[in-house]
Amino acid sequence: MVRCYMAPLEGITGYVYRNAFHRHFGGIDRYFTPFLTNRGLNHRERQDILPAHNQGMEVIPQILTNQADLFLELGEILAGYGYGEVNLNLGCPSGTVASKGRGSGFLARLPELERFLDEIFRRSPLPISIKTRIGFSSPEEWSEIFALLERYPMTELIIHPRVREDFYRNTPRREAYAYAYHRAKQPLCYNGDLFTPGDLADICAQFPNTGRVMLGRGLIANPWLALEMAGNPPVRSRDTLLEFCQEILEGYRAQMSGERPVLFHLKELWSYLSNLFEEEAVAKPLKRLRKANGLAEYQQAAEDLIAQCPFRAEGSEAWHKQR
Ligand SMILES: Cc1cc2nc3c(=O)[nH]c(=O)nc-3n(C[C@H](O)[C@H](O)[C@H](O)COP(=O)(O)O)c2cc1C
Repeated sequence: MVRCYMAPLEGITGYVYRNAFHRHFGGIDRYFTPFLTNRGLNHRERQDILPAHNQGMEVIPQILTNQADLFLELGEILAGYGYGEVNLNLGCPSGTVASKGRGSGFLARLPELERFLDEIFRRSPLPISIKTRIGFSSPEEWSEIFALLERYPMTELIIHPRVREDFYRNTPRREAYAYAYHRAKQPLCYNGDLFTPGDLADICAQFPNTGRVMLGRGLIANPWLALEMAGNPPVRSRDTLLEFCQEILEGYRAQMSGERPVLFHLKELWSYLSNLFEEEAVAKPLKRLRKANGLAEYQQAAEDLIAQCPFRAEGSEAWHKQR
């Protein structure tokens, strides 16, 4: 049985989303928080990891930094809240992050990364897992990066086999994953472009000992995906989807001040969720939803869309291939 993880998606998979997802869908063994990066944690970050906001789920907080003392400080705070593990982000491709040598930018500074890893693995109060890309500019960097990472006693290595310059374009580079698969001593987790149960079957056929996968955009677009991957028949319940969206709206309203940020986040969620529906049918209701100026207008548009649009006959399959 393959273990399924929810990928961290900054701006989407915060605690409001995770709780609503867990209540209405499930099929996820571990949830990773979007990255934490501020000294002492800012208000939003602290809300995201408060134990009261993460009941009944296995949650792994993720840290994004290139400063060992900051990593260790956040580790202490998280240990104090009762967490049992932390994850290090070596994948974020964003310009402001990478240009400062953090996330995927750290992969272009291996001597610095080595010093950082020496320090955190020596002193961390919590076991560490790592989520990484396979290079900054070129997949040829991977063998050296992998040789470095391999030296540390991490709990697992999550590989998103793209380089930073790919951002989210191009096909994941399976040969880089294969390179690690044949050598790694630590457990590996595959991440990247798993959109359908068929995609998972394909990865499992090529890498039969891959016992863990992480789902990102595919799961946000089709929240039933993990259940379907576990062999459950496809379910498309309009009531469940409506309740899920309603719960997220209420959660955001309680968390954020004013309607604008709430609307912004809901619209971003719908840029994924809309793929559950037939493309032609959803175009107009989606436009109305995107144009909504207030929450009442949004809510009506979302209700109408969910009530009226036919689901894609083949589930959410292949929506990503049309892009
Ligand atoms: C909007 C967005 C936000 C993301 N935020 C994070 C993050 O906070 N931490 C992280 O490690 N990866 C982040 N990622 C990367 C995803 O976790 C994942 O590695 C990537 O989307 C590839 O997996 P997928 O093809 O299943 O989506 C983000 C991706 C997107 C699209």
